[in-house]
Amino acid sequence: MRVTVIGTGYVGTVTGACLAYLGHHVTCVDVDAEKIARLQRGEMPIYEPHLTELLVEAAARGGIAFTTELGPAAAASDVIFIAVGTPPGPGGEADLSYLESAARSIGAAMDGGRFRVVVNKSTVPVGSGNLVETLLREGIRDTRPADEKWIQFGVASNPEFLREGCALGDSLYPDRIVLGAEDERTLATLRELYNPLTAQRFDAPSFLPRPAGISRVPLVATTLTSAEMIKYAANTFLATKIGFANEIANICERVGADAKEVMAGIGLDSRIGSRFLNPGLGWGGSCFGKDIQSLLHTAGEYGYQARLLEASLAVNRAQRQIVIQKLQEKLFILKGRTIALLGLAFKPDTDDLRDAPSLQIAKRLLQLGARVKAYDPIAMPVCRAQNSELKIQYCESAFDAVRHADAAVLVTEWDEFRSLDLAHLASRMQQPILVDGRNLYDPEVAMRAGLDYSGIGRSIRQRVAPARVP
Ligand SMILES: NC(=O)c1ccc[n+]([C@@H]2O[C@H](COP(=O)([O-])OP(=O)(O)OC[C@H]3O[C@@H](n4cnc5c(N)ncnc54)[C@H](O)[C@@H]3O)[C@@H](O)[C@H]2O)c1
Repeated sequence: MRVTVIGTGYVGTVTGACLAYLGHHVTCVDVDAEKIARLQRGEMPIYEPHLTELLVEAAARGGIAFTTELGPAAAASDVIFIAVGTPPGPGGEADLSYLESAARSIGAAMDGGRFRVVVNKSTVPVGSGNLVETLLREGIRDTRPADEKWIQFGVASNPEFLREGCALGDSLYPDRIVLGAEDERTLATLRELYNPLTAQRFDAPSFLPRPAGISRVPLVATTLTSAEMIKYAANTFLATKIGFANEIANICERVGADAKEVMAGIGLDSRIGSRFLNPGLGWGGSCFGKDIQSLLHTAGEYGYQARLLEASLAVNRAQRQIVIQKLQEKLFILKGRTIALLGLAFKPDTDDLRDAPSLQIAKRLLQLGARVKAYDPIAMPVCRAQNSELKIQYCESAFDAVRHADAAVLVTEWDEFRSLDLAHLASRMQQPILVDGRNLYDPEVAMRAGLDYSGIGRSIRQRVAPARVP
């Protein structure tokens, strides 16, 4: 099928690459001419593992092109995905201006030549499907008022669940595909589009083998409104689950329990599940905070106070301050101290810094008069470009960052930090204080390496052998 994807961010580029890999002919469109020029040169505007390789294979299979010209691409397509940003507005509501502009432009490009499905992949509040339909009609009326009755199209919601850092695996082998639409023709078009994926009828890329046990992907067909709600419900649940783990960890720390042991103990309960139960310094990224705020805003429009969601935001906000408190407990005064941040990206394997805990921690430390050094394997250029006001000293390696530091904070659990020589790390520091914001290290191992270690919700008591009865 011929497909247009509007927006070449994390979602649009990955969606376009995967659909072309499955054999569809894809055109990716963006208003950002520089981004498009880079993609045309084969350079990635974002960091996502294996994306470059997948795009090469996608070009050879279905074919993939990049352009700033939406009109011709949309006119020649059976399916048009909208994957533009929906950042939070001043009151927490989703800013739909990019979506609106894209929908109007699609409408202006449509003619009676074929049936088209316009699919919303951006995360948008309930009711946005109706808005898109209205904007498409307005776009048609503005350019081809006489043809309106001949132009046939359907509107669908196809929320995206990929995780940055493993976006390609999540897209080729998803847990499910959710399609919301109000008519059978629209649904049938999208079922056909996704058939290679739902039936797993494609050769797995050599760099992303098909996980064992995946032979079909469930497709959940719903109304437009339910599909829009599914995305918000999924993200708010996951954010709340992490917040719950953090809340329990904070209590564990006070009573002398070990949160890692507690989470392992509850995670084995099949009703709970072990994933997203890792205590740490809070979630970040472009989605959780924005989506909770947007759902709270929607609930408010209907006069409903979603207390659990409010608490979820508050717990996460407080969790980011815990690092500062821990540093103050150890060092008392932060003014003039040097603090090393290990990791800046909001999670490993991405260069995304949107709502990253590292930024809030760095800002607070600088406000308190500390010097901040940082090392991140991938996200430093983006951090430097986007946050020039933050006086962070960027370093070549973790060892370089901790040199002469009074304390180090493990902010992002990049793989390369797992195998750090902790004794060497400790030896380079002014004071070997480590706040492990992701519970990456075994407290006993870290302490044996000479570090003054604290994690999140970790009990650092040595296990004592039971006393022998004579
Ligand atoms: N990033 C994620 O992990 C993720 C996961 C699931 C869902 N989502 C949702 O998907 C959507 C996109 O997220 P993202 O992270 O890819 O955003 P992004 O900010 O990385 O990319 C959005 C792109 O859209 C482009 N754009 C804006 N208006 C345009 C227009 N009128 N025409 C063409 N291009 C336009 C921008 O230039 C930008 O390149 C959001 O609604 C987000 O909530 C994101």
